[in-house]
Amino acid sequence: MSFREDFLWGGATAANQCEGSIFEDGRGLANVDVVPIGKDRLQIILGKKKHLGFDDDLYFYPAKTGIDFYHRYKEDIQLFAEMGFKTFRLSIAWSRIFPKGDEALPNEKGLAFYESVFLECKKYGIEPLVTITHFDCPIHLIEEYGGWRNRELIGFYETLVQTLAKRYKGLVKYWLTFNEINMILHAPFMGAGIVFERGENEEEVKYQAAHHELVASSVATKILHEVDPENKVGCMMAAGDYYPYACKPEDVFEAMKENRHNLSLIDIQARGVYPNYLLKSFEQKGLNIQITEEDKELLKSHTVDFISLSYYASRVAQANASEMTAGNVFESVKNPYLEASEWGWQIDPLGFRITLNTLYDRYQLPLFVVENGLGAVDQPDEAGFVKDDYRIDYMAKHISAMRDAFELDGVDILGYTSWGCIDLVSAGTGEMKKRYGFIYVDRDNEGNGTLKRSRKKSFYWYKKVIESNGEIL
Ligand code: BG6
Repeated sequence: MSFREDFLWGGATAANQCEGSIFEDGRGLANVDVVPIGKDRLQIILGKKKHLGFDDDLYFYPAKTGIDFYHRYKEDIQLFAEMGFKTFRLSIAWSRIFPKGDEALPNEKGLAFYESVFLECKKYGIEPLVTITHFDCPIHLIEEYGGWRNRELIGFYETLVQTLAKRYKGLVKYWLTFNEINMILHAPFMGAGIVFERGENEEEVKYQAAHHELVASSVATKILHEVDPENKVGCMMAAGDYYPYACKPEDVFEAMKENRHNLSLIDIQARGVYPNYLLKSFEQKGLNIQITEEDKELLKSHTVDFISLSYYASRVAQANASEMTAGNVFESVKNPYLEASEWGWQIDPLGFRITLNTLYDRYQLPLFVVENGLGAVDQPDEAGFVKDDYRIDYMAKHISAMRDAFELDGVDILGYTSWGCIDLVSAGTGEMKKRYGFIYVDRDNEGNGTLKRSRKKSFYWYKKVIESNGEIL
C-alpha cells in the first residue's frame, strides 16, 4: 500500500474561476468579479489601482461567465465521479450567501445551490472539501468598510460560517478557512479586498488585515468544531520552499527569511501564537498592529486540525537578487537547475517532497495537498482530443515525490486534489488558455466557445492513478 487506504484523491476549483452567473439568484458582487483580463489586472490585484465596478467598453471580465459551472455542475461532477474522485474541493462564493456581506439573513437561493452541489457529490460517494473563501470578498464590504483592513469583517465572516456550519452539517466534513492566506501579503486586493490609500503604510495595512483573517479563521474553527465535532478544519497556504542560491551564509540567511515570511501566518494558525521573529519585525519596521488579549486567546485556543497547501514550484533566495522568474503571483530568483512551464513557473518535483517535509517537521499536523498541477496551452486535434502528455509527466513526477514523502519520510498526508481538475479561468492572469484540467472546456480568452466538456488523455491516466491508489503513475 503506497498511500493510506482512505487517501482522498480528487480535484480542486474555486467559485469565482468556474461558476459564472454572477448576477443570478440574488448573488452580490465581489472583488474577484471586477478583476479584468489584460494589462491592468496586476495593478488591481495588488490593490494599487482602484476598480470596484465594470467598464465593459474597456475590459473583459472572465468571472462573469467562468466555465458556467453554476448550470453545468451535474455534468462536471459526473465526470469527476467517472475518474473515481474521492473528494472535490470547491469554494463558496460569499456574495451568493450574503450578497452584501453584512446582512443578518442569508440568501436562500445561494444556500440551496451549494446544498445541491454537495448532494450531487454525495450521490457518487465524493466527499466535498470546502474553502469558505477563495479570494472573494463582497464589494459592499470593500466600499463600506475597506475590506479586511476593518475589524468588523470578523463578525460578518462569523455570521457566514455560522450559517454554513449549521446548514451543511452532515454534508460537509472538511473545511478550509481562507485560500492561500499568505497571498494577502502579495496580492492584497485579491486576498483581502484591500485598495491602498495614498501615503499609507502598506505593510501595516496588510498585516492588520492578515490579523483579522487569522482571528476570523480561529472563530471559524471554533464554530465548526462546536456545531459538529466530526468537522476537520484546515488552514491553506501557497507553499514552496526557498532554496539559498548559493551556500554562502548571506544567501542561506535570505532563504531563511523568505521561508519565514511565507510561513508566518501558518505558524499562527497551527501553533496559536505569533512567532517572535514576526513580532520583532513589526517592531523594527515600526508597524503598529492591533492585537487584543481576546484575539490572542482565540488564536491560542482554536488552532487548525490539518495544514493544506498549494504547491507549484520551489523558489530561490539570494542576498543580491540576480535573474528573476515568474511564479504563483510573485517572482523569485531563477533556479538554473530547473526547467519552467510556458508561464515561467519552475518545475521541481523533488522540491515538492522537500516542502512537504518542511511543513510536517515544523507543525507535526497532517497535510492535505489541495492544489498542484501544470498550467499549459492545450491544442485539441482534429477529433477534439487533447493529448496532454506534458501534464501527465508533470503530475506523475509530483505524485511520485509525494509518495516518497509519505512512504519513505513518514509525512502524514490526507489527500491530494489537483488544481483546476476541469479547465477554468486563471487567477493570476485571467486567461482561459492557461489550462490545468483533465477535462477540456471549449472557451477562449475572449469568452468565445461552446463550453462543451471533453476528456483529455490525462483524464484516463488520472482514473488509473486513483484506481491503483497511486501505484500506477
Ligand atoms: C493558486 C490559487 O494560487 O494558484 C488558484 O489558489 C489559482 O486560485 C492557482 O488558479 C493557479 O494559478 P494561476 O494563476 O495559474 O491560475
